[in-house]
Parts: sequence; C-alpha cells; structure tokens
Amino acid sequence: MFGIKVGKTTLLVSMLAVIGLIPLQAAAECKFVSTKAGNAPLTIKVTDKDTPESKEFLETCINPYTKKFVADPEAAKAGKKLFGYYSCTQCHGGNAGGQTGPSITDDTWQYAKHGTDKGMFETIAGGSDAGMPAWHGQIAGNDELLKTDEILKIIGWLRASFKGSGEKTWLK
Ligand code: HEC
Repeated sequence: MFGIKVGKTTLLVSMLAVIGLIPLQAAAECKFVSTKAGNAPLTIKVTDKDTPESKEFLETCINPYTKKFVADPEAAKAGKKLFGYYSCTQCHGGNAGGQTGPSITDDTWQYAKHGTDKGMFETIAGGSDAGMPAWHGQIAGNDELLKTDEILKIIGWLRASFKGSGEKTWLK
C-alpha cells in the first residue's frame, strides 16, 4: 500500500519535471551585488570562454586560484602579470602596495566584504563610487577588458601577496 503511494508521487513528480513545472536541477549560482551605492545585483554570465575555474567560481563564489596561488608563489605570477597588463599598477603600484589607489596587500579593506574573494571580485568587476573603475568586460561593455578568469587570477595573486595581520578569511 505504502509502496504504491510512493510510486504514484514519484511518477507525478517526474511528469511535472518533464513538462517543465519543476526544474530537475536548480543550478547553484553565486549572486553578486554592486559595490556602488544601492548595491544593485551585478550580473556576470557564464560564456563559452569561461575556464573550469571561472565556471566553478560563478557557481560557488569560491575562487579556486586562491588556495593554489597562496601555496605556489610561482603559479601566482600569472595574476601579477595580468595586474600589470591591465595597468592596475598605475593606481595601486607594481606590487599592489598602494599609490593614488589604496594598498591591496595590507589588512585595511575599503569595504569589509573584501575579506572574501566574492566581495573583492564585485569591486574589481563592477567598480566603486570612489574611483575604482569597472573592469569586467561584461559590465563595462568592452570585450578588451577582463574576463572572469583573469579577475580570479589577479585576486589569487593579491591573496598570495597579503602582508597584513589578522585572519585570512579568504582561505576558509
Ligand atoms: C584609476 C585608478 C585605478 C585603477 C587603474 C585601478 N584601481 Fe583599483 N581602486 C582605485 C581606487 C581609488 C580604489 C578605492 C575605491 C573605493 O574606496 O571605493 C580602488 C580599490 C580597489 C580594490 C579594493 C582595495 C581594498 O583595500 O579594499 C581592489 C581589490 C582593486 N582596486 C583592484 C584593482 C585591479 C585588479 C585593477 C586593475 C584591473 C585596479 N584596481 C585598477 C583606483 C584604481
């Protein structure tokens, strides 16, 4: 009797799923918000150019490069190269220690959320109201600007270059 009930329910659920009333697998997705006033949603889409690492980040909010680069300074150089290539150095200095823009290697964060890779990504991708431009190609509407994967490699290098004290919340 019980077995028959379960069977019917299962059948109904799969029929509804087939006609699209119940999504079979709701894709997990990292929800970004702008660092600018109003904290509007910041939409970053997965594209066919996304690497496995950027796809993982867009789903989970976890930057796979961070742990890797912290453990391997040689690999982290990929992020430093991009930091120079995109002229982040102009405002933040060659080693991100600060110039006209703030240091990104000390423990003073412009926004508390920079203690997570998701929060730092939001400021780099979408910019701020106080002088940090939006760098993600999708947000700036310019394909020449950064892709998700490039921002993640830069963040990985910044984490590997951290010189501050306190808890390294991004390694959790
Ligand atoms: C035109 C100057 C300028 C350039 C170029 C620039 N930034 Fe910034 N950046 C700023 C300013 C100013 C802030 C502080 C913004 C604020 O407080 O709202 C900032 C803040 C940041 C922060 C947060 C720092 C903290 O301590 O919390 C990060 C991370 C960052 N920038 C990364 C980058 C990266 C990566 C690039 C290159 C892709 C870049 N910036 C290029 C001016 C710049």
